[in-house]
Amino acid sequence: MAMNLAGKKILLGVSGGIAAYKSCELLRLLQKKGAEVRVCMTEAATQFVAPLTFASLSKCPVYLKNGAVEARPFQHIDFPRWADLYLVVPATANVIGKFVYGIADDPVSLCFMSCTGPRFIAPAMNVAMFNSPAVKRNLETLRSFENTFVMDSPAGELACGEVGKGRLLDPAEIVAYLETRDERLVTREGECLPLASAACASSATPSNGGHPRNAPESQAAQYLQETALQDLPASGERVRRVLITAGRTEEAIDPVRYISNRSSGKTAVAIAATFLANGFDVSVVAGPMEAEFPGAVHVTKIKSACDMHKAVLEQMKNADVLVHCAAVADYRPKVAATEKIKDSRSQLILELEPNPNILRDSVAQKRAGQVIIGFALETDHFKEHAAEKLKKSGADALLLNAPVAANSGFGFDEVRYTLIRANSRNAQESGDSRNAVEVEIPEMKMGSKIDLAQEIVDFSLDQLKNA
Ligand SMILES: Cc1cc2nc3c(=O)[nH]c(=O)nc-3n(C[C@H](O)[C@H](O)[C@H](O)COP(=O)(O)O)c2cc1C
Repeated sequence: MAMNLAGKKILLGVSGGIAAYKSCELLRLLQKKGAEVRVCMTEAATQFVAPLTFASLSKCPVYLKNGAVEARPFQHIDFPRWADLYLVVPATANVIGKFVYGIADDPVSLCFMSCTGPRFIAPAMNVAMFNSPAVKRNLETLRSFENTFVMDSPAGELACGEVGKGRLLDPAEIVAYLETRDERLVTREGECLPLASAACASSATPSNGGHPRNAPESQAAQYLQETALQDLPASGERVRRVLITAGRTEEAIDPVRYISNRSSGKTAVAIAATFLANGFDVSVVAGPMEAEFPGAVHVTKIKSACDMHKAVLEQMKNADVLVHCAAVADYRPKVAATEKIKDSRSQLILELEPNPNILRDSVAQKRAGQVIIGFALETDHFKEHAAEKLKKSGADALLLNAPVAANSGFGFDEVRYTLIRANSRNAQESGDSRNAVEVEIPEMKMGSKIDLAQEIVDFSLDQLKNA
């Protein structure tokens, strides 16, 4: 079950990197998700962002060296004990070294040491620092610590002006990363969870009801291995690529008018962020849309279905997974007027012709091992229509999306959906003709767009493993 941030208590540790300003936006995003956030800072971090900013945003005193905002003697224990999870953003090379070597002479490293819940670390630094032997070794060691999750620091333009690895994930990507961890890491009740420290063992049961303090360490390690969702690929492993279509298309009637639909692009953003959080290299071919992609996503912007068709067929050969999430217009005006059509007060008939079928044409070009997932938005007889579409297209799966409930679908975060898989084993047994493809149609369910995205990512990883 993907982690729900609503109601979570999050301790945000900020250390002294140039990307510290992004933690302010992260704090706001976490609050928007319903999380309560408190902040601790290193002294160096206070040179990049004033503690007053974090105190104002979090509506809580910031834990600083010597308790400078509000002197309280046990903040280094109280803050981590209060929190369901500890998030260090950005993590400098310096605090990473301290975490590894057990040095605890500032609030961020002290909280790391005294935190018994899950600890999520987002490193950020200049590419030369990131590639230095010390940082490489420290990150590797940190990854091996129990209860500790190190996020990727992808290549990109760095704040210092150089280009290379070491970039801090965008705040939206960090939120997506958290939301794609397993909820049981922080809220599993009544079972042994890691890691008792003597200092905290006597604490009352935390507000989330989780983190019983008496788990043997080996059991804890096994539990964490089982419950951690897909980890980012280890360095050296080939990075998997996904190509996602997104947004809506606009089919020109004349230079100022077009036919389109109401897609906001939010689902595609959730899917892109979830693939990113699972270590994929993410490209999208995006029509007009309101929602924005995280900075690490490569975006090709298009307007019409024909433009999208061309871009997808050009780019798909590099992809391991294709997700056809865009709301593509089925029809376009046969002729787009070159001048604005004048209002003549008489009836106007638009002649429409079908657009190319991007899903079917991409399946026709599919190479062995590639995974292709289509989308179907239906408003009636959805199961029958979606099953028919899946069979005709030859895709590996189809995400059926039915925005029929109040407050779900277009522009909302909740959606009614189910993932329909083509049953290729049965199809092969019966001679593999497209019409012989059998489909399983699970019940429709309500969930967040991140839940939907995680199901697509899980399906893709499963298919790639078996390819
Ligand atoms: C302008 C500037 C930007 C810096 N950016 C980073 C950075 O992005 N990552 C990093 O690891 N160190 C960075 N440093 C170096 C740290 O600030 C320095 O190592 C400091 O001691 C870190 O302290 P802390 O880990 O206690 O916060 C930067 C230094 C300066 C002057």
